Amino acid sequence: MIDNLISIAVYTASSREDRILTAKHLAQKLHLPFFLSMPNNLSVGPFLTKTAGYIPNQDFHYFLVVTDHRIELQANHTRFKPISVDFLDSAYQKRLSLANPHHELILKAVGVKPNLTLSVIDATAGLGEDAFLLATLGCQVHCLERSGIIAALLEDGISRLLAMQPNLNTQFSWEHADAIDYLTQLTEAQCPHVIYVDPMFPHRRKSAGIRKEMQVLRALVGDDQDDVALLFIALQKAKQRVVVKRSRLAPAISGNRAPDWVIVGKSSRFDVYSTLSHSHSKHGMAALF
Ligand SMILES: C[S@@+](CC[C@H](N)C(=O)[O-])C[C@H]1O[C@@H](n2cnc3c(N)ncnc32)[C@H](O)[C@@H]1O
Repeated sequence: MIDNLISIAVYTASSREDRILTAKHLAQKLHLPFFLSMPNNLSVGPFLTKTAGYIPNQDFHYFLVVTDHRIELQANHTRFKPISVDFLDSAYQKRLSLANPHHELILKAVGVKPNLTLSVIDATAGLGEDAFLLATLGCQVHCLERSGIIAALLEDGISRLLAMQPNLNTQFSWEHADAIDYLTQLTEAQCPHVIYVDPMFPHRRKSAGIRKEMQVLRALVGDDQDDVALLFIALQKAKQRVVVKRSRLAPAISGNRAPDWVIVGKSSRFDVYSTLSHSHSKHGMAALF
């Protein structure tokens, strides 16, 4: 990960005491510089650009901006719109309303079925899009994210979702952690049915077609070069299966095991590794394939 090579500051556009405190805590937790809004009380506009007069320091690449309602990541050097995790947005709700295993191959890959509650660890949660779908469709999902910046956005998004939909409290949790360390420490009783792994895709030369969130994520965290080690430990800890998301034409994560099942979509692919025949088969789980 390359968080450390990118200069980021926390900035608050809010005059509310509680939000200023949230911003200060965030800066402390992530060891980032903290700036209050300018005295003339300008609010943060739709974009931070090099010409915006109220940017406290032009040397920062990104700002984590604490507004009255959310935490946003704003880029200082590009015209990207701020990035935040807003699961209540219409785009998420629309995706949810259309979701079925034919349309959302992730559901098939993970094995989501009505009246079946699977425990899932999303080992590479990022902005939580995949985790959201799994959690709202009945899985108990624990998200792990090792970038402190991304984890802050995710935590903010999940907290706001749970405040509006407390029924999801038991379905959706999160932690700022490295998945390899986290999974290594799991006891047998704590192992989930499914571990979901979606490492940063191998770098593509042309960035056209890659969504801006992914471009920013890549700029922040770089390529995930320890995906072989992550798959290795995931295969030891998942009771039923490990699902790896790849871009459609990318090679499988190399290691000494090929996927048991591959589900190919338009732009991405899910490599499914069954762990039932391995150490966890004694749990008597029904065969999945
Ligand atoms: C491609 S993004 C995941 C996108 C996510 N599936 C979504 O739907 O929004 C990959 C993320 O995994 C995180 N990551 C990679 N390896 C990790 C690890 N070992 N532990 C925790 N997070 C990891 C990266 O920091 C990055 O944010």
